[in-house]
Amino acid sequence: MGNATIQEWVKNKEKDLHIKVGLNFLNQYAISVICKIFYEEAIFKDFEALTVEEIIQKKGYSEASSKRPLELMCTWLCTKDILKKVVGEDQKVRYATTKTIPYPDLLQLEKSVVGRTMPGATQLLQLPLKYANEILSGQTTNEKLYAHHSVPLWQSYFSHPGMYIPSELAAQFIYNKIKNRTDPIIIMEVGAGSANGTRALYELLLSKGQLNLVEKFIISDFSEEFLENCESEIKNKYGFQDIFEYKLFDLNSSPAKQGIEKASVDYILGVNCLHYIKDWSMQFQEIRSILKDEGWFLSAGYFRDTLNIPFHIELHGSFFEEYHDVVLNEKFRPEFGIMTPELFESALINSGYSETEIWPQRDIWGNLDFYCGIVAGR
Ligand SMILES: C[S@@+](CC[C@H](N)C(=O)[O-])C[C@H]1O[C@@H](n2cnc3c(N)ncnc32)[C@H](O)[C@@H]1O
Repeated sequence: MGNATIQEWVKNKEKDLHIKVGLNFLNQYAISVICKIFYEEAIFKDFEALTVEEIIQKKGYSEASSKRPLELMCTWLCTKDILKKVVGEDQKVRYATTKTIPYPDLLQLEKSVVGRTMPGATQLLQLPLKYANEILSGQTTNEKLYAHHSVPLWQSYFSHPGMYIPSELAAQFIYNKIKNRTDPIIIMEVGAGSANGTRALYELLLSKGQLNLVEKFIISDFSEEFLENCESEIKNKYGFQDIFEYKLFDLNSSPAKQGIEKASVDYILGVNCLHYIKDWSMQFQEIRSILKDEGWFLSAGYFRDTLNIPFHIELHGSFFEEYHDVVLNEKFRPEFGIMTPELFESALINSGYSETEIWPQRDIWGNLDFYCGIVAGR
C-alpha cells in the first residue's frame, strides 16, 4: 500500500469500526478513571495549589511509587481543565483544581454504544482504579497488574480492532519491503503480548499466498504467562507449525546474554511496548547488533501527538515501574512516557540507524490527539 491507498484503508477502517470514536472514547474513559481515583483518594479536597511532592506527603503515599503516576495523571487533568498549573514564586509547579473533581459514573459510560464494544479495554483501564491506593502507597508491584487472572484481560484488550491497527500497519510496511525478495526473512516480535504483529503479518502473507517469504516468526515476551497464552492461541488458530518459535526475551537485557546471535534477524518488531525499554540509547544499539545488514527495527503503535497529551494506554502503563524508571535524554526522551514519532525517530538516529521512516504520513488520522503507525530504522 502506498500513501494514497493507505488513506483509503484508514477511511474504510473508520467506517467499519468507528475507530476514531472508539479510541477517543478510551482516552475520555482514562480521564474519567483518573477523576474517580482523585475523587476516591480525596487527592484535592479544596482549591489549594499543591506540588506532587506535597500531595505525596499529605496522603502518606510512597515517594518512589507515586511521583510519576501522579505527575502523569495531573498532566492529563490539565488537558481537560479540571486541574490547572500554577507556578509559584519558588518556581515550583503546583496543581490546583478549577472545579470540584468530578465523580464519573463509569458503568453508565460503559453502557454507551462505544463502551459496550470495548469490554476488555474498559475493564483493563479500571485496574489502576482498583489498585490505586495500594500502588500509590507503594504496597504492591507489577504482580497485581500482570496477575495470572488479568492476562486474558490484557489479551482481550490487545485484540480489540482499534488496538490491532498498528499491527496491521506493521504487517503492511514489512510486506511492502519484502514482497519481491527471493530469500525468506526471520522476524522477531518483542513484547509480543498476544503476538498481534506476528498474526497480522502471517495473515497478510497467507492472503497473498506468500508465506514462503518468512522462514521463522520468533515470538517473544518477558512474561512466561503471556508467552504460554500466545502459544496456545496461535496453535488453536493456525495449528501446530514449526515456522513459529517462542522465546522468553527481556527488552532490558542484552540480546547476546539471552542467546541471540549477532546479525541473525531481518526484522525486529515491537508493538506498543518499546516505552518499557529503560535505556533507549544503549538498547537500540544492542538491537541493531542482532539485525542483519539490511534489517529493520520497527516500533508500531500509538504515539503521542505532542508531549502534552498522553494516550490512554499510558494510564495502566504508568503504574508499572519500568514505564517511568527510564533514562531521560533531552534530545529524544525528554520525559517518561510515550514519545512522539519524531522523538522516537531521533532516538533511532542517535543509536546509529542511518535510514529511518515514519509511515504512514503523520496526518493520516486527521483530527485525533495521537499518531498511530510505524517508526522504523535500519
Ligand atoms: C502494552 S503491552 C503490548 C502487547 C502487544 N505487543 C500488543 O500491542 O498487542 C506490553 C507488553 O510488553 C511486555 N513487556 C513489558 N516489559 C517488557 C520487557 N522488559 N521485556 C519484554 N517484554 C516486556 C508485556 O509483557 C506485555 O506483553
